Amino acid sequence: MKQRVVAIDGPAGAGKSSVAKRVAQALGYRYLDTGALYRALAWKAIKSGLRPQDASYIVDMTRETKVELQQHNGEQRVLVDGEDVTEAIRAPEVANLASPISAIPEVREILLDWQRDFARQGGTVAEGRDTGTVVFPNAGVKIFLTASLDERARRRHRELLERGINISLQQVKLDMEARDQRDSTRHIAPLRPAPDAVIIDTEHLSLDEVVEEVLKICRARFTNEAPPST
Ligand code: DC
Repeated sequence: MKQRVVAIDGPAGAGKSSVAKRVAQALGYRYLDTGALYRALAWKAIKSGLRPQDASYIVDMTRETKVELQQHNGEQRVLVDGEDVTEAIRAPEVANLASPISAIPEVREILLDWQRDFARQGGTVAEGRDTGTVVFPNAGVKIFLTASLDERARRRHRELLERGINISLQQVKLDMEARDQRDSTRHIAPLRPAPDAVIIDTEHLSLDEVVEEVLKICRARFTNEAPPST
């Protein structure tokens, strides 16, 4: 039985967040930003003085941490133990630590339950790296977004500058390349398209065009098949 879940995966900067938010809004589904969960843990790990090699402490910390994704007027707020970290988790050093943290199997296991609980509460658009392969293998729609490293780095650089984070394009590209490599080659839940995912190359498409393409697929799947379960 297919789930009422749209799983959108792909590497950093492929456009997942912007697309997922718009698709969620159009379908009236809830938006699940799974990367924000790993970033939230990385933010707390940095604050606690933990390093990537402190895996067992990071696992203990994960068990004791309450991460909340709240939606206000179409905007997502991320809370860690009640503290709003929405902006703080977008910092490049948080992204850099989120990647090794996401390779710790016990951390993924804990977050797996969390993500599935979220989707049990209603129609969900989930974005991340393994939402179509591991978290929601029965998702009604699976999308994998791609674009070249240069284009993705340019987009992420622009985004960071808009947030007031001053960093060179070259540094963004180097960080992104290292992160992609780590995320794609890890043993557990590596970044890769699910066999039944629709792959969309966003290199030369506008946000509107990608959203329309995804919505077209959703309409076809969610109306032509038996009604999906939640
Ligand atoms: O999408 P993002 O940049 O916010 O993700 C931050 C890190 O979290 C990224 O390096 C990979 C990891 N991640 C993951 O392993 N699985 C997910 N479903 C989402 C993110």
